[in-house]
Amino acid sequence: MSTPEDKLLMEEIKRIKNEKSVYIIAHYYQRDEIQDIADFVGDSYAMAVAAKNSPCDTILVAGVDFMAESAAILCPAKTVLSPEPAATCPMANSIEVSDVLKYKQEHPDGLIVSYVNTPAAIKAVSDICCTSSNAVKIIEKLPPDARIFFIPDENLGSYVASKLDRPLDFYPSSCPIHAAVSKDDILQRRAEYPDAEVLVHPECDPEVVASADFVGSTAGMVAYAAKSTANAFIIATECGIMHEIKQSNPDKKLILAKEELICSNMKSITLEKIRYSLENLQTIITVPEDIRVKAAVALEKMITYSS
Ligand code: 13P
Ligand code: SF4
Repeated sequence: MSTPEDKLLMEEIKRIKNEKSVYIIAHYYQRDEIQDIADFVGDSYAMAVAAKNSPCDTILVAGVDFMAESAAILCPAKTVLSPEPAATCPMANSIEVSDVLKYKQEHPDGLIVSYVNTPAAIKAVSDICCTSSNAVKIIEKLPPDARIFFIPDENLGSYVASKLDRPLDFYPSSCPIHAAVSKDDILQRRAEYPDAEVLVHPECDPEVVASADFVGSTAGMVAYAAKSTANAFIIATECGIMHEIKQSNPDKKLILAKEELICSNMKSITLEKIRYSLENLQTIITVPEDIRVKAAVALEKMITYSS
């Protein structure tokens, strides 16, 4: 629920963004009031495409750093603003360029598929990027005999490997929020809400993924909930997703798979920070050109392979 102070800030943000022609792109894990003032809300793939298609030359990305970086990589002629550049993704930061280079040295013919949850420097040494919405589709299109290093999310990688029945090499990392959901959490919720369907993000542990009725990206969950006839959903992803699902399904019951599924980095972005960012056109996100050009190849390839 937006407070009266929030409502005032939201009005102010709308006025400034219109005056300065700024397009606001937000992730589904953003606070409800931020999703409400955004021009576009989506999963990480849709956010990247929305940045490319933005009708304005200035974009404000309400999401963690790799999301703003992806916009800056794909849109070199546009100004990309972050309201909180310190908002980051611990999983994205868990891998070093040297880890990738070591793999390439050991497997010169291997392909590097990097989750979009990576810094620009990792994308720059990758063959192709993917998100949770297109990872299966993309890897399906790679040469069947190629050895693939899927980085950095081992859980998403395991999901893809099992869907395609294809071995992949992994990096030992995962999202601390999604990895905290256990199979027992799902069993307990199922016992409490026997008629509910279980929607799981593929960043969750393989046992949790195996217990799902639907596995997909945040946008995939939103779409699934809208078309399903179930009256209740148990949701295994960050709590911010509830806002969009609730809005499009006001009569359906939504239950989080466990309490405190909160990404503190996503939640570090506030209306106040967005207003400051718009007023001062700060912080501009840039990527060194030599890295940007190489990272753009991996991101553009993802967009081509996803269609
Ligand atoms: P989506 O691409 O499904 O929105 O996921 C992004 C993310 O960071 C999940 O934790
Ligand atoms: Fe990273 Fe997990 Fe937060 Fe997504 S939810 S941004 S993967 S820490």
